[in-house]
Amino acid sequence: MRTQVAIIGAGPAGLMLGRLLDLAGIANVIIERKSAEYVLGRIRAGVLEQGSVDLMERAQVASRLRAEGLVHHGTDLSFDGDRLRIDFTKLVGKHVTVYGQTEVTRDLMEAREGNTIYEAANVAIHDFDGSPSVSWEQDGVTQRLDCDYIAGCDGYHGVSRASVPQEALTTFERTYPFGWLGILVDKPPVAHELIYAHHERGFALCSQRSNVRSRYYVQVPNDEKVENWSDERFWDELRRRLNPQTAEALQTGPSIEKSIAPLRSFVAEPLRFGKLFLAGDAAHIVPPTGAKGLNLAMSDVAMLADAMIELYAEKSAAGIDNYSQRALARIWKAERFSWWMTSLLHTFPETGRFGRRIQRAEFDYLRGSVAAQQVLAENYVGLPS
Ligand code: FAD
Ligand code: DHB
Repeated sequence: MRTQVAIIGAGPAGLMLGRLLDLAGIANVIIERKSAEYVLGRIRAGVLEQGSVDLMERAQVASRLRAEGLVHHGTDLSFDGDRLRIDFTKLVGKHVTVYGQTEVTRDLMEAREGNTIYEAANVAIHDFDGSPSVSWEQDGVTQRLDCDYIAGCDGYHGVSRASVPQEALTTFERTYPFGWLGILVDKPPVAHELIYAHHERGFALCSQRSNVRSRYYVQVPNDEKVENWSDERFWDELRRRLNPQTAEALQTGPSIEKSIAPLRSFVAEPLRFGKLFLAGDAAHIVPPTGAKGLNLAMSDVAMLADAMIELYAEKSAAGIDNYSQRALARIWKAERFSWWMTSLLHTFPETGRFGRRIQRAEFDYLRGSVAAQQVLAENYVGLPS
């Protein structure tokens, strides 16, 4: 089998890249190790920057997003019960759209015209400095795909980054001593907009997927087990971290999903190794506090698709030569913002009373400074690429 671009991973990055290449007439095959149902069952991101919405439009997959996406003009911060609304529209003239990653993935899967191979076992990539190929096993038979380029869109635990010789890669990492325990529930959201809450017991987030489906998170220690959290325990803990009126208004119910995600900041440099390119979570991870992971994956593949279109249509390598540098410039800004939001809103066992006072001062500064609110808003809605 032969194609122009082999894409590893059918998450949002791989599927969007495949779609953009299909629309440009560039042949591609996606190789995914899980089933389509499994990929759709993973509950993750919920907030899209305008750049990601625009990319869905460009990919001609935005009709449901246009009808069902919820436009949010602001978000709430809560610090020990004191509230501050960040008005994106007033501060920076932009907004975000609440539309689940599951829906983005579903829309892209439904539109896909090219070949996607699901449930591919033992995926391996070969000779990306020379004549690249990908191999995998299906029903016990080894398959091989020759290609011009490989796009590694296989997430943090994927095979693409792991196949790069250690000496060619520089990594930057920060782990946090906590994770997010998330719950999905078929009840209306507690508030019209998202609430990011700091409390001495830990961070909490009130998010949503629609007017009848809500997503809530609480900060938990790294070694916490989801089995230790009954729905009752979750709702009690969440209520304690919100201000009293919000806690009172919370509509609870049986969870339809419950999971723990660790928090990590991570960047691998560069993003190109010969004919192999990394994009999305395969190259970088942000802690979820700034709602940037999916959006970064989208901006990476937009740049990579443009670079490949330039290469195949205009025979210019300028785009693929610049991809790594251009994408990393944006990635590091999102890393900074995500680290900052995480630092402001979580409880850090090691920083003690001093750390908490600094967080309080930061919140009070935000409350009193339009300039500081503008910085937050500008980053949250998405910096230009
Ligand atoms: P992935 O979604 O991880 O997709 C990679 C794909 O590759 C997967 O389907 C995987 O099965 C496949 N794969 C892995 N290994 C192999 C292999 N060896 N061979 C073949 N295939 C392989 N981001 C936001 O922008 N906003 C948010 O609000 C937000 N909230 C989040 C909340 C939580 C709880 C979490 C965990 C994440 C959140 N994120 C958010 C981050 C966002 O979900 C990710 O950044 C996004 O999924 C990245 O997409 P991706 O396609 O790069 O990687
Ligand atoms: C969601 C996740 C986030 O990380 C975030 O910052 C906002 C919303 C969510 O899953 O809804």
